[in-house]
Amino acid sequence: MGDIITVNGLNRIFPITGGELHVLKDISLAIPEHCLTILKGRSGSGKTTLINLLGALDLPTSGSICFDGQDITKMSEPEREKLRRTQIGFVFQSVSLIPMMSAYENVEFSMRLAGVENDRKDRAVKCLKKVGLGARMNHMPAEMSGGEQQRVAIARAIAHGPRIIFADEPTAELDSQTAATVVKLFKDLVETENVTIVMTTHDTGLMSAADVVYELEDGVILNG
Ligand SMILES: Nc1ncnc2c1ncn2[C@@H]1O[C@H](COP(=O)(O)OP(=O)(O)O)[C@@H](O)[C@H]1O
Ligand SMILES: [Mg+2]
Repeated sequence: MGDIITVNGLNRIFPITGGELHVLKDISLAIPEHCLTILKGRSGSGKTTLINLLGALDLPTSGSICFDGQDITKMSEPEREKLRRTQIGFVFQSVSLIPMMSAYENVEFSMRLAGVENDRKDRAVKCLKKVGLGARMNHMPAEMSGGEQQRVAIARAIAHGPRIIFADEPTAELDSQTAATVVKLFKDLVETENVTIVMTTHDTGLMSAADVVYELEDGVILNG
């Protein structure tokens, strides 16, 4: 199986008052396609910084990030924006559903933003069924549990058919049992939806579902 992303010699240095902070230090790794990869590490180890770079939300200080063979650090911002909109899905720690829209409307609306023109209705329904919310499609976010809302966010992230989903601490606000079901859902999506998923977590109890685990400590990959 090929790698969808390869990272070489990645550094991210943030300017801070009175100096700079070298957060990611010479990171090289590969994300295999059609796998669930977990980036694990303690709070402050650099997980969010790294996943934001992989998802083309931020640019490194040095190093390359090849997505499907193309170095995203050399793309123009409009090219990166198009890559994010069409090829990537994002899931965040705090669920960011639009409160005035039902589960179905949240998913359908995001497909509209991604430029999906056909079959939005069928696709939204299919994705909500896929995450186990077939019976809750017309519920508003406030009428759902945290785990259910995160499932809507996952349905939304897969709806436009991205090649890869980045999820930054998607289970941090869930109890451990609900967290385990979210990770199991990711594993299921990797197997059935032709997608690659990268998630970060500091929860060491979730690793067994991963195909690949990279451990970050102080901005260095311990097993890169
Ligand atoms: N924009 C920024 N400016 C300055 N420092 C930052 C910035 N973003 C993150 N950091 C620092 O980088 C380190 C790693 O942060 P982060 O990637 O958020 O870690 P994690 O997600 O593993 O908790 C922390 O010390 C944090 O304070
Ligand atoms: Mg983080």
